[in-house]
Amino acid sequence: MKNNSKKSELKSQTQKSAVFETDNKRNAECVVLKAAGYPFDFEMMESSLEITDTGLFEQYARDQWLGMEINNESYLFDQKIIPDFAFKVISVKPENSIISETTKIKIILDETDKLKNVKSIKSSIKLSDIVGQVNAKNKIKVIEKYLREPEVFGSWAPKNILFYGHPGTGKTMLVKGLANEVEVPLYLIKATSLIGDHVGDAASKIHDLFEKASKNSPSIIFIDEIDAIALHRSFQSLRGDVSEIVNALLTEMDGINENEAVITICATNNSSSLDSAVRSRFEEEIEFKLPDDEERRQIFENNLETLPLEYDLDINKLVKVSKNMSGRDIKEKILKTALHNAIANDKTVVDMSDIDYALKSGKVKISDVKGMFE
Ligand SMILES: Nc1ncnc2c1ncn2[C@@H]1O[C@H](COP(=O)(O)OP(=O)(O)OP(=O)(O)O)[C@@H](O)[C@H]1O
Ligand SMILES: [Mg+2]
Repeated sequence: MKNNSKKSELKSQTQKSAVFETDNKRNAECVVLKAAGYPFDFEMMESSLEITDTGLFEQYARDQWLGMEINNESYLFDQKIIPDFAFKVISVKPENSIISETTKIKIILDETDKLKNVKSIKSSIKLSDIVGQVNAKNKIKVIEKYLREPEVFGSWAPKNILFYGHPGTGKTMLVKGLANEVEVPLYLIKATSLIGDHVGDAASKIHDLFEKASKNSPSIIFIDEIDAIALHRSFQSLRGDVSEIVNALLTEMDGINENEAVITICATNNSSSLDSAVRSRFEEEIEFKLPDDEERRQIFENNLETLPLEYDLDINKLVKVSKNMSGRDIKEKILKTALHNAIANDKTVVDMSDIDYALKSGKVKISDVKGMFE
């Protein structure tokens, strides 16, 4: 009964909203809420609340509070699932406006809830698994010492580093190997995953990431595909308004102080397209190069050790045909395709005919494989 009467009351308020509009009362564009709990406490009452899907909550909230006139500091009472549970209006834009069909409703989740979503990545990669990339490994040696004994470094601590270079050359692998060997948590975010989010959501994801890393320091933050958000200003119009996300990132990067032992490593395939303010924060830019002959030989040999079938391969020839290929090309496009071809043909040994099949499968550019039969 109570709910129905509330509903009709709200309905009539909704209808009134059109009148309010002309009466200088505008529809709310965006409302930010925080769970406030019940107006009083009594036994058997659970006063904490976990919201698992903020989009769903928005729809639920909009449905029941449609037509309500609110201002900063108002309270909204739930009338459906947990009657009389209150939500405080943290902000509403514009002030004194009405919740309408188009109002965006955001909820600030409890601190512990929100940080639960930021998880560290585990892996079993060892630093010695990464072939070549000598410059990067030297820098990693310094970071490793720092993460083990941060207090020794003081204001000389390493901080923000950029890895750039060809795809599939070991950037992600090296960061995972570092975190694994030093046994510190690795917090990874793909910048592309922030695109398309509401700007405020992306900024708060970045904030949560840094907050969690600080709380669990020593730790590593890895922002992959950084160019997706931190595009050079001349390219930013292509991606819409990412500058606020960039500002959030800069604020967080500057906010880490040297006592916290948090290292931020960003990666990109293209450093020249990076926003110059972001780029200037990196104390070092380290290039990841395509492997040379000797390094490709090593990558083949390392991967062949774990092949689940026997093999009969001419390594010299493999080195020759894989010129200009990355470590990822070698593993994923050549060896994996060859192995799967052998398995599909009920063979017990991977041989050069399977490699030939992989090379002709169209997964690698033909210009990359000239020299195969020279
Ligand atoms: N230097 C290397 N030594 C050994 N294996 C490598 C090396 N580089 C790449 N690989 C192989 O390629 C795979 C992909 O590498 P990784 O994910 O580190 O590339 P990346 O540089 O991060 O690429 P992207 O720029 O596309 O993110 C690795 O899991 C590994 O199997
Ligand atoms: Mg990567």
